Amino acid sequence: MQIAVLAETATGERRVAATPETVKKLGALGATVSVEAGAGKGANIPDSAFADAGAKIGSRADVLSGAQLILGIQGPDAAGLPKGALVVASLNPYQSKDRLAAYAVGGIEALAMEFMPRITRAQSMDILSSQANLAGYKAVIDAAESYGRAFPMMMTAAGTISAARCFVMGVGVAGLQAIATAKRLGAVVSATDVRLATKEQILSLGGKPVFVEDEETKAAETSGGYAKEMSDAYKAKQAALVSETIAKQDIVITTALIPGRPAPRLVTAAQVATMKPGSVIVDLAVSQGGNVEGSKADERVVTDNGVTILGFSNYPSRLATDASALFARNLLTFVTTFWDKEAKTLVLPEDDEIVKAIRVTAGGAIVHPNLQA
Ligand code: NAI
Repeated sequence: MQIAVLAETATGERRVAATPETVKKLGALGATVSVEAGAGKGANIPDSAFADAGAKIGSRADVLSGAQLILGIQGPDAAGLPKGALVVASLNPYQSKDRLAAYAVGGIEALAMEFMPRITRAQSMDILSSQANLAGYKAVIDAAESYGRAFPMMMTAAGTISAARCFVMGVGVAGLQAIATAKRLGAVVSATDVRLATKEQILSLGGKPVFVEDEETKAAETSGGYAKEMSDAYKAKQAALVSETIAKQDIVITTALIPGRPAPRLVTAAQVATMKPGSVIVDLAVSQGGNVEGSKADERVVTDNGVTILGFSNYPSRLATDASALFARNLLTFVTTFWDKEAKTLVLPEDDEIVKAIRVTAGGAIVHPNLQA
């Protein structure tokens, strides 16, 4: 099977979908791997390292010629992709329906890695987890860098500096790593979520849970482990709790997402206005509409009362080397799982739980149930 790894074309995207390690392992399976020249640059992987691992290096056209499997971080443009090829990448399916339609028309079979089911067998193929974990870490590092004060309490001869207070909103994969990172830096950490299961997890990381608890929170989690959209009554209670909590915080990290929906608005401009000057908010949901009123994609906003709001739209790309290594391993595990050793090719059984969950285009149409009009 001929596998192509393209250079990413989206603005600000520094990651790459393969590493020398995964190229070598794909080669050992019997695949031929071609990597577009310069694909690894943003992640500090020179072409020579890919070549040493056994990849052919070439232009985009060279790499695409005859490619049967195209691995990507983000979905490549449909133009120039060979008919019948399989694209495996993070396709941003809800927001990229035009691209998916172009894949369908072009006879491309596309698999959206973000639709990977949250089952044990798929854990090591889960790009949302591998990338969100790094995002949660980096968000706290960015907040610490922008915060004009120290995170840990320091008792010095010149006096005591109090610890930063950090509030994490949304305790999924990114939020848990944000709590752990803020704790490691010495902050006093509290956190909130709609899913009650996260309460124990917050406590186990040394954070303080801040929760609205009512009948609705008992059913806030879907069978897939994700949050549901909450009612207006719940939102009102949550807003009151946030108002009470946020004015005392120095750092706020928001990570709340609902699959297929705009990000829930968790912090209003009025609430930001109650925070102290010098406080920092990082809105990890900015590209899905933002959890924080006033956050702007890829901008550093400073409010009238001196609060900095950071909203990088592609957090994993800010740690491109590590993010690429983990993403590439997720893809390698996927390929290895469905690899037919005899035929030396990928075989995707129609009835497999993973294949059914991630297949978005096939036979010239968009086939995923979540993407039907
Ligand atoms: P996500 O990225 O979809 O959302 C982040 C967090 O925001 C979630 O914890 C969600 O409950 C929370 N949230 C949503 N709306 C909110 C609101 N209005 N207010 C406050 N918080 C809100 O979630 P992520 O990180 O993808 O994780 C979802 C779940 O999947 C978690 O339970 C995680 O442990 C689980 N998981 C399971 C895996 C497996 O079994 N293979 C792998 C990875 C995650």
